[in-house]
Amino acid sequence: MTFMGIYGEYGSYLSRIKDDVMNKLSVLNQRELDNNQTKLYEHLIGRIKAEDSMVEKCSRKGYELSSRSALYECKDAIGIRVVCNFIDDVYRSIELLRAADWCEIVKEKDYITRSKPNGYRSYHLILKVATPYPSVDLNDAGCYFVEVQLRTIAMDSWASLEHEMKYKHNIRNSKQIVKELKRCADQLASCDVQMQTIRQLIHEND
Ligand code: GTP
Ligand code: MG
Repeated sequence: MTFMGIYGEYGSYLSRIKDDVMNKLSVLNQRELDNNQTKLYEHLIGRIKAEDSMVEKCSRKGYELSSRSALYECKDAIGIRVVCNFIDDVYRSIELLRAADWCEIVKEKDYITRSKPNGYRSYHLILKVATPYPSVDLNDAGCYFVEVQLRTIAMDSWASLEHEMKYKHNIRNSKQIVKELKRCADQLASCDVQMQTIRQLIHEND
């Protein structure tokens, strides 16, 4: 038997499901534009979690190494990031996803209202989406999970730079660096609020 990797026979569908969900998001955006609303997001990024990262995550969480754990316990094999211009756009996107009939929000974490202690801000959703593809759970035909991270451009810039530095250097050991990063995150958050206020003022003057 050839080893198919942790996603097994389901691996070949992941990319297609990611693309389908990204298309559905772009349809939501187009509908907003057609209704003379501002765009929902600046850009979308999608990724499939690498098999070795998924094996590492399952081991770390104490799950058995199986497709079921990778797709049904971890729930972030498919990841989509929605990068928005303004904070309001993040919440508008979430409400449209809540109302959408093609997905169900099964978990949410609001790291915008309550940022992580290091300053990380983002809104995380786990969506359960129905697809025509076979699913790992026979009792749950054609369902896959997708992790969606929604954040502003400012939050995204911070998270990218922090991620880059965290992986290249051991910043956790430096209290000063951790403190400076937190300060940057809070300054960016304050800019997001100012920008939101400016947009509101512009709308009122229109
Ligand atoms: P893991 O997926 O094992 O991390 O656990 P979880 O699903 O409980 O974590 P959570 O929802 O808090 O975070 C999931 C993802 O958010 C991570 O894989 C990162 O992409 C992102 N994330 C969370 N915290 C941070 C952070 O402090 N800095 C950065 N740059 N990204 C973060
Ligand atoms: Mg996760």
